[in-house]
Amino acid sequence: MTTIGITGASGFVGTALAARLRNSGHDVLRFVRGDATAVDAIRWEPATGSIDMAKAATLDAVVHLAGENVAAGRWSAPRMQAIRDSRGPATEKLCRSLAALRRPPVLVSASAIGFYGHRGDEVLDEGSAPGSGFLPEVAVAWERATAPLEARAARVCHLRIGMVLGKGGGALDKMVLPFRLGLGGPLGTGKQWTSWIALDDLCSAIVFLLEDQVARGDFLGVSPQPVTNRDFTKALAAALHRIAVLPVPAFALRLLFGEMAEAVLLGSQRAVPRRLLEAGFQFAHPEIGAALRSILSGSAAARS
Ligand SMILES: NC(=O)c1ccc[n+]([C@@H]2O[C@H](COP(=O)([O-])OP(=O)(O)OC[C@H]3O[C@@H](n4cnc5c(N)ncnc54)[C@H](OP(=O)(O)O)[C@@H]3O)[C@@H](O)[C@H]2O)c1
Repeated sequence: MTTIGITGASGFVGTALAARLRNSGHDVLRFVRGDATAVDAIRWEPATGSIDMAKAATLDAVVHLAGENVAAGRWSAPRMQAIRDSRGPATEKLCRSLAALRRPPVLVSASAIGFYGHRGDEVLDEGSAPGSGFLPEVAVAWERATAPLEARAARVCHLRIGMVLGKGGGALDKMVLPFRLGLGGPLGTGKQWTSWIALDDLCSAIVFLLEDQVARGDFLGVSPQPVTNRDFTKALAAALHRIAVLPVPAFALRLLFGEMAEAVLLGSQRAVPRRLLEAGFQFAHPEIGAALRSILSGSAAARS
């Protein structure tokens, strides 16, 4: 049994991961902004990096998931600032505090496929260069910010996460209702590639990276089978026994969501998880149709 800290523990991924780790017999400490009096809470101020060092000294590993939600709506200037500040700067300050511990913990730090920007049909893996624009800049700064821990020779993994599919949150939660009402359809041309991962597989990949003694560096947290938005739409409609006939025009998405639509909804990343596969990680839900059927029937959520 080990003691594992989670930042962003109240979020969509953090909630599932905490349950998974506890079920596997690990002690979980939640990094909490604000009142941290609960026994399983560790005080953390992202703006300064201040943490409860006595509790932090008990940590074997930290999974860093915290950050302002990127896909929650239009990117106003203050939201873009919050997205930026809660990634690079907050991660750097957190890592400086963790690096000051006598025994720095292993770190698995979230990043995102937004790292690559808009890349059309190009097949991307961990060796592909970053893209340009807001999200790539945020992701590059986020990954570089773990340097203080790496300088202490701690084992650090960056996990570039794709669209996470699971029950109770994330992108799927927003899509299911319109599809059930027969209002779902491809976004824009539907030719853009979606790199996705089942929440269940993402939790397993994080546990895999925590337990592997040699894994370090950049990993893609995506299924080995990315799909175009058109194929994703068909698979979701089929899983819900609906037909997806209503395409959502790109101009309407741009009107509603501005720059966020361009980067997140219409952006194309065809990424494959080369390094996880080479390390021997096995996906339980590699194929989109079976993954969606399993999630929507509840069986994929059950393990998380
Ligand atoms: N879900 C996806 O499809 C997806 C795709 C790619 C990458 N990711 C990345 O994976 C990580 C986890 O994703 P998620 O879906 O679980 O995100 P989420 O549901 O939005 O949760 C993120 C958590 O971060 C904390 N947080 C929110 N705003 C913050 C701020 N301004 N400063 C510091 N902490 C803040 C909150 O936890 P507390 O209140 O407990 O602190 C929040 O619950 C995120 O960094 C996300 O960018 C997710």
